[in-house]
Amino acid sequence: MISFRAALGCALIATAAACGGTSGNDTAPKDAQAPAAAPASTPASADAPLVVVYKDPSCGCCKQWVEHMRQNGFRVEAHDTSGVDGIKDGTGVPAGARSCHTGLVGGYAIEGHVPAEAVRRLLREHPADVAGLAVPGMVTGSPGMEGPNPQHYDVVAFTKDGRTSVYEKY
Ligand code: CU
Ligand code: CU
Repeated sequence: MISFRAALGCALIATAAACGGTSGNDTAPKDAQAPAAAPASTPASADAPLVVVYKDPSCGCCKQWVEHMRQNGFRVEAHDTSGVDGIKDGTGVPAGARSCHTGLVGGYAIEGHVPAEAVRRLLREHPADVAGLAVPGMVTGSPGMEGPNPQHYDVVAFTKDGRTSVYEKY
């Protein structure tokens, strides 16, 4: 039920100002639309970590998170699917930690709007007991969910047997 709500939340938010404002630009050429002050998407080097992302095609904030990861030097391969819950089941994302999209990098699952710097720390430290990181739900102020009244949030680490612990605080 929680995962259904998360998926629904994403679809609803995609039509709201925070997300919808950007999803309207999908077909526009990126460089023509980007404000001059925004950093251009840094081309990731060939040996940059690859994040394989599974996301719902209608979710605009997922696209924004993909862009956040690219701007922070990750290579990203994004797959649209209506079966993101199956991916979450397969990678062991605990029900209470679920969000919209799920990314796979370096053998870990990255659930939702996790900041790139937390992912970098995970890959650097490479903890054996961690299955992945998550920002549960859809938190305003997390990467790809920028908006007014940003909230504090936790990045949680989860284990294969479904235990969660705070990994970073933002
Ligand atoms: Cu989202
Ligand atoms: Cu998403």
